[in-house]
Amino acid sequence: MTQRLRTAVFISGRGSNMQSLILAARAPDFPAEIALVLSNRPDAAGLRFAADHGIATAAVDHKIYAGREAFEASVQALLDVHRIELICLAGFMRLLTAGFVARWQNRMINIHPALLPAYRGLHTHERALQDGVKIHGCTVHFVVPAMDEGPIIAQAAVPVLDEDTPDSLGKRVLEQEHKIYPLALQLVAQGRLTIDGNRVKSGSGASVAPLIVS
Ligand code: GRF
Repeated sequence: MTQRLRTAVFISGRGSNMQSLILAARAPDFPAEIALVLSNRPDAAGLRFAADHGIATAAVDHKIYAGREAFEASVQALLDVHRIELICLAGFMRLLTAGFVARWQNRMINIHPALLPAYRGLHTHERALQDGVKIHGCTVHFVVPAMDEGPIIAQAAVPVLDEDTPDSLGKRVLEQEHKIYPLALQLVAQGRLTIDGNRVKSGSGASVAPLIVS
């Protein structure tokens, strides 16, 4: 097959979404390869899984840098060394500067545990339960300078059940995250998406969103 898109996954913790991307990308016909897993936390559990799967890993500890620009300069140097073409943020808990985001415009995607534009930010499952919404879910989107904004590539919805706690709801959402993130990476890596304002279009007539799962 043609060259697979060299992709870096950025994590800060357990890396379950990273795992789903690594496992999906093992399929020979998958259009992206995970060429680097990078964490800002040296103790991130996900680094071990990536290394065990033969993937290059890097820890760039943000705490030793004077500021975000210096941290990002080290990150960018690693991306250059590994000839990275696309970044997947997967539970990466550092805000990126507008300069870095601009450099990676349309080449950096993120997963968020809510149906954007609802519930940007943290504690999405608690807030959804507090508001009494009946449908919750997750979103993969292109990254823009504003946090948890940017053109939406894929979404999955789950029902909110009477007995749900933030944990149980989050667990059900996470199952869907593990499905839509590989799907979104595949769509991006195939290079057939066009971005029209806030809308992402597949051009093939295939539906990229919404993906409703009950
Ligand atoms: C996920 O819920 C993701 O949507 C959010 O952070 C969490 C990361 O989990 N951005 P994991 O590290 O992928 O398991």
